[in-house]
Amino acid sequence: MKLMITPETPEDKSAIYSLNAAAFEQENESRLIDLLRDSEHFIPGLSLVARADTGVVGHILFTKLTIAGPEGVIYNTLALAPMAVLPSLQQSGIGSQLIREGLKRAAELGYGSVIVLGHPKYYPKFGFVPASRWGIRTTYEVPDEAFMAIELKPGALEGRAGTVIYSREFDEV
Ligand SMILES: CC(C)(COP(=O)(O)OP(=O)(O)OC[C@H]1O[C@@H](n2cnc3c(N)ncnc32)[C@H](O)[C@@H]1OP(=O)(O)O)[C@@H](O)C(=O)NCCC(=O)NCCS
Repeated sequence: MKLMITPETPEDKSAIYSLNAAAFEQENESRLIDLLRDSEHFIPGLSLVARADTGVVGHILFTKLTIAGPEGVIYNTLALAPMAVLPSLQQSGIGSQLIREGLKRAAELGYGSVIVLGHPKYYPKFGFVPASRWGIRTTYEVPDEAFMAIELKPGALEGRAGTVIYSREFDEV
């Protein structure tokens, strides 16, 4: 299947909403995307859609995220969340293409690292490892191996130990 991965356009908003609702079988993630899109955390070039002849078949979102370090110091990183592929087209590599393209574009835009809370069997193949390696924690109660990070620039997370602060939009859905 011919796929094009490009930043979302205003016309893609409703397709992104329905795609996420179909993939997650609920609307929380779709609502989260709408909230994040209107927030200061949104990066227009890092909400990517995978477009086939039939329309939008996949979506991935990277938004600005902060790590609270010691003594009030704040480090900047990115959150990968959420991502979705049309159920009928899952397991055919679209998600992998979205992740690889997203990481490449994030690096090109100058971002040094990405954090993901997700399946420990899926993300490591793209280079994600447990964020605990750098002493980065989350307030969410999740298994250590599900909270992962990747350096887009070597050493970007060195000395960045702290607690990730997910923006309030994540708690609103
Ligand atoms: C998670 C999700 C985005 C992955 O997208 P996907 O397009 O199915 O992912 P891929 O096809 O790249 O990879 C899935 C599997 O297919 C395999 N695969 C990749 N390319 C393949 C190909 N060309 N042919 C056959 N299998 C392939 C991968 O190795 C992977 O195997 P794994 O199960 O051992 O990890 C998708 O399943 C989804 O939308 N799930 C519901 C929403 C969700 O849970 N999102 C993630 C949390 S934010």
